[in-house]
Amino acid sequence: MRHLLDTRTLTKDQALLILDTAEEMAATQQREMKKLPTLRGKTVVNLFFEDSTRTRISFEAAAKRLSADVINFTAKGSSVSKGESLKDTAQTLQAIGADGVIIRHPASGAPHRLASSGWIDAGVMNAGDGTHEHPTQALLDAFTMRRRLYGEASRGRDLDGVSVVIVGDLAHSRVARSNLWLLTTLGAHVSFVAPETLQPYGARTWPVTVRHSLDEALREDQPDIVMMLRIQTERMHAAFFPNEREYARNWGLDDARLTQLTEGALIMHPGPMNRGLEISSAAADSPRSTVLDQVSNGVSVRMAALYLLLSGDREAA
Ligand code: NCD
Repeated sequence: MRHLLDTRTLTKDQALLILDTAEEMAATQQREMKKLPTLRGKTVVNLFFEDSTRTRISFEAAAKRLSADVINFTAKGSSVSKGESLKDTAQTLQAIGADGVIIRHPASGAPHRLASSGWIDAGVMNAGDGTHEHPTQALLDAFTMRRRLYGEASRGRDLDGVSVVIVGDLAHSRVARSNLWLLTTLGAHVSFVAPETLQPYGARTWPVTVRHSLDEALREDQPDIVMMLRIQTERMHAAFFPNEREYARNWGLDDARLTQLTEGALIMHPGPMNRGLEISSAAADSPRSTVLDQVSNGVSVRMAALYLLLSGDREAA
């Protein structure tokens, strides 16, 4: 693998290689000495044109635990706010000698542009582009599902027959898209649950069951996983639902719905959460919730991806 841009084109073998490598990485993170020498001498740039908490610090921690040098570049406070183009920024990174570039950008397709432009030689990792994809989030979600469902027997396993219900602002969600492609490749069944206004354009041509009622999805799909997504008000320039109370009542994972989940069902959320809107505090903090597991697993998964992309001879790869 030279770049990690999406999960749509990731093969099952590639996905399992990343997940199994992440298991190896997770094992090293149990030690007192967490740092590995693997990427010593390599430079990784965190190039963030959009706000982020989890993803940015997770990539930073992952790169540092592999002994890479990390440069954090945020668009605010850089020459990007003076109007510098992606091309000029990329050429600057090339001149600095970046081996890996992790990019988050509000424009769908920006990481692909960077990877195919010829502006840089670095391996490019997509950390979220517009409403398009967020591949490492989907990989850490799949990793978390495997571990919580299969425990020690996770290695080498896919998610055949697992029922996943993804609920919320699907229209704006790159997490939903990346999860759909990856989970489908791994053999899971996925339902998208949201009011019609929040269903992604084109969803009916995708391998997904489109539903409007959360209660129906919980009843019909008997989900092993309920993944709640944030309402992304910053990407909404119109009214997508009547009001927050109405939304929470129809599509929120509230305390009543929490009691209806089947035994062993897990609750996931990529964060940041709107407590009381798409998810109640009881649901977010319940033993079924994997929210904090997702964050810690994210470091192992990103270590695996960085290792697979950047270690050894990139030309040979
Ligand atoms: C998500 C994102 O930025 O796409 N968060 C994340 O990476 N953990 C989802 C969101 O912003 O709601």
